This record gives sequence, structure tokens and C-alpha cells, in this order.
Amino acid sequence: MILRGRKVILRPLKLSDAPRIVKWMADPSVRKFLSMGRVTLQMERKWIRETNKDKNEKGFAINTLDEKYIGNVGLHLNPKNKNASFGIFIGDKRYWNSGYGTDAMRTILKYGFEKLELHKISLNVYAHNQRAINLYLDMGFKLAGIKKEDRYRNDKFYDTYYMELLKNEWQKDKKKIMAL
Ligand SMILES: CC(C)(COP(=O)(O)OP(=O)(O)OC[C@H]1O[C@@H](n2cnc3c(N)ncnc32)[C@H](O)[C@@H]1OP(=O)(O)O)[C@@H](O)C(=O)NCCC(=O)NCCS
Repeated sequence: MILRGRKVILRPLKLSDAPRIVKWMADPSVRKFLSMGRVTLQMERKWIRETNKDKNEKGFAINTLDEKYIGNVGLHLNPKNKNASFGIFIGDKRYWNSGYGTDAMRTILKYGFEKLELHKISLNVYAHNQRAINLYLDMGFKLAGIKKEDRYRNDKFYDTYYMELLKNEWQKDKKKIMAL
């Protein structure tokens, strides 16, 4: 399945994406915002194979309109409760702060709420990841909980925020969100 945004195209992940992900994850300035650690080529190829087989994993590569692969975005579905958790990263730092995250996110939210008929989408984010938090607030997500000292990295504990967005809240703000 391919989802088209205004600045990005979300396409299925391919095994040949794995080396790029390994390279991105080797960069501490990208990894510091994510829960995953360093990954190997073997781990990434396995993850892509499993994600593509699992009907509850909606993982996409983020491509620019000129087909440059810049990151990943996905929903992990919990069909029983009609909800999903969300994750995103743009691994190619040259593409940060230029609206690609906004476009990838509004595109997958529309897919999640309209096509998959989800009732709620939630996410976790480091409390110090202001750029991501701003993006999530722009998309209508609300802070629903603070997990104190929830992640342990490099001898330090970090707080994380739990945020969520209900379908009816999204519908109410849809016009504004889709126009960002
Ligand atoms: C978080 C991420 C997906 C955002 O995507 P992006 O394309 O860089 O962000 P956008 O350009 O779409 O901007 C989104 C919002 O972030 C905010 N923002 C952008 N740059 C920012 C900065 N340097 N500091 C604080 N906020 C910033 C703005 O509020 C912006 O909204 P605006 O259009 O109203 O100004 C991307 O930067 C990324 O992948 N970062 C590394 C991994 C990561 O943090 N993933 C999320 C883990 S929870």
C-alpha cells in the first residue's frame, strides 16, 4: 500500500532499506530521540521481514516526492481495542525541520482513523524532545501522562510523555490538521 502526502510518499519497507536504517541508528544525535539502540544489518532485515508479514504492523518508509528515502513511520495496531501506537523518525538529518514529519504524520493519521477505523492513536516521547512534542501537539495529541525517569540511557534516567488522540478529536480538528 502506498499513501500519498503533499511532500512525502509513504511506501512499504524493502529489505534494501536496511543498510540506511543501520547507518541512521549509528548516529547518536538521531538515536538519542528514540527508544531503540544501535542495530545491525541482520536485525534490521529481520525486523523488515517480520513487519511486512504482520497484519498488525503498518510500517512505511518515508520517501520525498523525488523518491529519496529519509525515514520510517508506522502504526502498531491493537485491533481488539481499535487503537494503535505511533512511531516516526526521519533518519536523514538534512530533512529535519522542513515539514516532512508534519506531512508524514498527517498522512498516516488520516489512514489510521479513516481507512483502519481506529478509535485512538497513542505515542510515547522523551520529555526533552521538544520538536517531536510540538509536532504531536500540532496534530492534536494531548498529554495524557508523564512517566517519571522511565528510560535509562548513558547513566541517566529520562522522563517520557504519553500522548493520545481520539478519533472524534481528530475529526473535529481535521481541516486544520490537514491544512498545516
Ligand atoms: C520529530 C520529527 C519526526 C519531526 O519531523 P520534522 O520534519 O523535523 O518536523 P517539521 O518540520 O514537520 O516540524 C514539526 C513541528 O516541530 C516544531 N519544530 C520544528 N523544528 C523545531 C526545533 N528545532 N525545535 C523545536 N520545535 C521544532 C515546530 O512546531 C513544527 O511545527 P511548525 O510547522 O508549527 O513550526 C523529526 O525531526 C525526527 O525524526 N527527529 C528525530 C527522531 C525523533 O525525534 N522521532 C520522534 C520520536 S518520539
